[in-house]
Amino acid sequence: MPKLSIIAAIAAHNAIGKNNQLLCHISEDLQRFKQLTLNHTVIMGRNTFLSLPKGALPKRKNIVVTTQSLQFPGCLVAHTLEEALQLCEEEEEIFIIGGSSLYHQTINQADKLYLTYIYAPFEADAFFPTLDSAQWHTTFSEDHPETDVNPYHFSFINYERND
Ligand SMILES: NC(=O)c1ccc[n+]([C@@H]2O[C@H](COP(=O)([O-])OP(=O)(O)OC[C@H]3O[C@@H](n4cnc5c(N)ncnc54)[C@H](OP(=O)(O)O)[C@@H]3O)[C@@H](O)[C@H]2O)c1
Repeated sequence: MPKLSIIAAIAAHNAIGKNNQLLCHISEDLQRFKQLTLNHTVIMGRNTFLSLPKGALPKRKNIVVTTQSLQFPGCLVAHTLEEALQLCEEEEEIFIIGGSSLYHQTINQADKLYLTYIYAPFEADAFFPTLDSAQWHTTFSEDHPETDVNPYHFSFINYERND
C-alpha cells in the first residue's frame, strides 16, 4: 500500500482558494511542491486540474477525479477516489494535491501532511479541513519570516498520523 500524503498551502482560517485559484504564489512553496511531488503520482479534483495554468504537471503521473465522462490532456481520469487509488497501488507515496473537496475526503485516511501555513488573511471560498490535533504529530517545521521578495510570513510543517 502506498503512503497517502496530502500537500496544501493554507492561509488564516484554513483558507486555500478563491474563484478556483490559489490565494497567493510563494516561490519557495512552489519549489517545495515541485521537489516533493516530482516523479510521483498526484491526485486532484477536476476544479484543481482546471486551475492549473499549464495543465498536467510535468514529470508526474497526474490523476484527475471527476464524476463526468471527460478527458484531460496528459492525465489519467478516475471516476471515484477508490479508482484513483487503485491506479497507484504499486507506488511508494502518492500525493493528494487538492482541492478542498479532495482534502476533506482524504484527511481521515492520509498518512502524512505536507502543509505550508501562510500567516495572512485572504478572502476565500475554498477551505482545508480542520485538523484533529490528537491524530497528528509534527515531524518537520521550518519558519520563513517575510522578506523583500516574499511579503508573507509562512512555515513548512509536516505531520504524520499517530499510531
Ligand atoms: N492552497 C492549496 O494548496 C490548494 C491546492 C489545490 C487547490 N486549491 C484550491 O482549491 C479550490 C478547488 O477546490 P474544490 O473543492 O472546488 O475542487 P476540487 O476538489 O479540485 O474538485 C472538485 C471536483 O472533483 C470531482 N470529485 C471530487 N471528489 C470526487 C469523487 N470522490 N469522485 C469523483 N469525482 C470527484 C468533482 O468533479 P465533477 O464535478 O466533474 O464530478 C468535483 O466537482 C480552488 O480554489 C483551488 O485553487 C488550493
